[in-house]
Amino acid sequence: MRRVITYGTFDLLHYGHIRLLQRCKAQGDYLVVALSSDEFNAGKGKKSYFSYEDRKNMLEAIRYVDLVIPEETWEQKRDDIERFHIDKFVMGDDWAGKFDDLQDACEVIYLPRTPEISTTQIKNDLSARS
Ligand code: CTP
Repeated sequence: MRRVITYGTFDLLHYGHIRLLQRCKAQGDYLVVALSSDEFNAGKGKKSYFSYEDRKNMLEAIRYVDLVIPEETWEQKRDDIERFHIDKFVMGDDWAGKFDDLQDACEVIYLPRTPEISTTQIKNDLSARS
């Protein structure tokens, strides 16, 4: 069993997220998503539209996702890799190079983002229309 982990907020779920999760799952057999908690986001000055519980429920309904855990700190990644016996740490390439220090714990992979879609883009487009 090859285990994969990825991290993110996944607010206003969109096809860029789905494609990322599909490609994460294709890297192995079991996908863990560490989902940013509302408190963790607040610490970064971010507020999602959907609550953690709602974002978690949506992710759990996606066939590529096997387990959703909370992301509560920047430092938890090494512990998560150990606890969940992770083989591959996968992120979108907006994070390219940022987590290379984890390479001694597992394989670290950055996947190309899907162009022209993001949660921020959706919010901006909708507010420009009103
Ligand atoms: N992602 C992607 N392609 C996109 C948007 C996101 O592959 N077009 C990936 C990110 O690289 C990340 C994961 O999806 O690995 C979760 O990204 P997140 O930051 O939650 O979504 P964004 O749409 O980028 O949100 P924001 O605009 O708030 O940054």
